[in-house]
Amino acid sequence: MLSEKITKVLNKQIQAELYASNLYLAMSAYADAQNLPGFARWMRLQSEEERGHALRIFDYLGDREARIEIGEVKQPPAKFGSPLEMFEAALEHERKVTSDINQAYELASHEHDHATMVHLQWFISEQVEEERTASEITARLRMAGTDLPSLLLIDQELADRQAA
Ligand code: FEO
Repeated sequence: MLSEKITKVLNKQIQAELYASNLYLAMSAYADAQNLPGFARWMRLQSEEERGHALRIFDYLGDREARIEIGEVKQPPAKFGSPLEMFEAALEHERKVTSDINQAYELASHEHDHATMVHLQWFISEQVEEERTASEITARLRMAGTDLPSLLLIDQELADRQAA
């Protein structure tokens, strides 16, 4: 049986992943409005991935017969300034998620909750990937600066992202 503290932290993580899903969907809408279909596609797929993360925790709580609460999800911003600022915001967000996951893992470890530790290990590895990708794209957007052809090239590359 999951402890009350672990149950709370995992429900909070569902909320955070659903917020992430909405944040990326808002970024997709922003990119679409800027006529950047590759960015829009990438963000939309990322939004779906985040929903998948929320469901992964949802299913785990269900498997452990723990309480599931779908908390209020705050509204994400609608404007992101530029593609670079948008990816900077995405990277900052992923770093925050990494910190949340690490804290949840530390709690599970403190409580000797081995099953939750194993469950969270998947998220720890996933965060390495998520941060690396956001960081790489951010760096390339910084290199592109205000050069429009470079931005359009990045847009084309992001359009190639396939659903997980
Ligand atoms: Fe679910 Fe991007 O962290």
